[in-house]
Amino acid sequence: MQRNDNSFKKFYELDLDERLDFIQNETKIKKKDLQLLKDMPKNFSFNKINNMVENAIGIIPIPLGIATNFVINGKKYLIPVSTEEPSVIAAASKAAKIAKMAGGFIAEADESIMIGQILLVARKRNHKDLFVSKKERERVRKRITDNKEELLKIANLKSRTVVAKDIQVREILDESINNMGYMIIIELIVDTKDAMGANVINTMCESIAPKIEKLSNGEVVLKILSNYSVNRLARCKATFPKEMIGGSEGVNRILLAYAFAYSDTFRAVTHNKGIMNGIDALAIATGQDFRALEASIHAYAARDGKYRSLTKWYKSKDGDLIGEIEIPMAIGIIGGIISVHPIVKVVLKILDIKNVKELASIFAAIGLAQNFAAIRALANEGIQKGHMKLHARNIALTAGAEENQVNIIAERLIKEKNVSVSKAKEIIELLNSNKI
Ligand code: MEV
Repeated sequence: MQRNDNSFKKFYELDLDERLDFIQNETKIKKKDLQLLKDMPKNFSFNKINNMVENAIGIIPIPLGIATNFVINGKKYLIPVSTEEPSVIAAASKAAKIAKMAGGFIAEADESIMIGQILLVARKRNHKDLFVSKKERERVRKRITDNKEELLKIANLKSRTVVAKDIQVREILDESINNMGYMIIIELIVDTKDAMGANVINTMCESIAPKIEKLSNGEVVLKILSNYSVNRLARCKATFPKEMIGGSEGVNRILLAYAFAYSDTFRAVTHNKGIMNGIDALAIATGQDFRALEASIHAYAARDGKYRSLTKWYKSKDGDLIGEIEIPMAIGIIGGIISVHPIVKVVLKILDIKNVKELASIFAAIGLAQNFAAIRALANEGIQKGHMKLHARNIALTAGAEENQVNIIAERLIKEKNVSVSKAKEIIELLNSNKI
């Protein structure tokens, strides 16, 4: 199959083998790697999954699809995404196609700087009113900072690649109902490079805890990374030509959708959920800790004290629509499940990325694309029309349709404007008794 825009457009029309051939032609992946996708269930022996989680009994497959048309920093991507939600992949691909007309997505990501936190309290005070004296807190701060180099040395014994770079000391006053007083927080600043870093940061924090207790004569309670990865942001920007979105009237309607999401938390949550449709789908496909991403990204949406839109939309001087996104991105391309999960390995080969920053840029781009697609549809025809075809097919399957009946039933449900299981059952009966 030739590499051209037409073949991109028709990806959905190809059968499975043709899709895999297409991916093979477009990327550097080998045929034997793609074959793994076809042999999916066989790759998950009981032993394998039982080593991944406790009490394993099976696997629950989520469809894996390809978001097409993405051009990010001038490079073409086929983006494997895993989601159970119809329309998400089509919407991202369509948005990427429109963005491509104005040069595609421009994206970048920060270095992989993460924080590990150690909670230190005073000893033998029944954990109440800890470090009550300012002088005592200053003494501890000085002891830790004076011994920073040694603490970093201990932490860095735990990894050859990930680097603990600095230590900072903060104090916080309990704001909860229990009035626990002052706490000292020792933060390890770590460059996790191509890893997400959770395991190694936790190990590093645990490794320096005894020394911190010795230096401070205090007691360490918690030793854990912070998932709020605000030093590890990814940003993306794209222009969407006004001709493709209903001219200046269409652009204004999208700006209104953005104004709504920026100014109202009830709308912002749904707006950002649409962004997470793309981000989570890519996170699942690439084996990331999507709960960590969710927690961090939503906290970032509320960084000014109010939960707001994660994207920003405005007009260019020519009246085109410009979108921007900035999100924390604690992801990895080495370690954890990424090194053991056969499908994740194939997904990363399809993406053909050089480092974790490149993957973070793709995450930002798919989030922005997903948001554009959602607010464009919402500000115009609504989203139900796009959802309807796959939804009707699902309803047909739920009603018990045979595979060869699904399309006929779905079309009829849509035509009769009654997409319900009961209607689908009626149609199945008619089909089975040859009445239609
Ligand atoms: C549906 O999964 C996502 C949307 O609700 C997002 C949005 O409202 O912006 C369509």
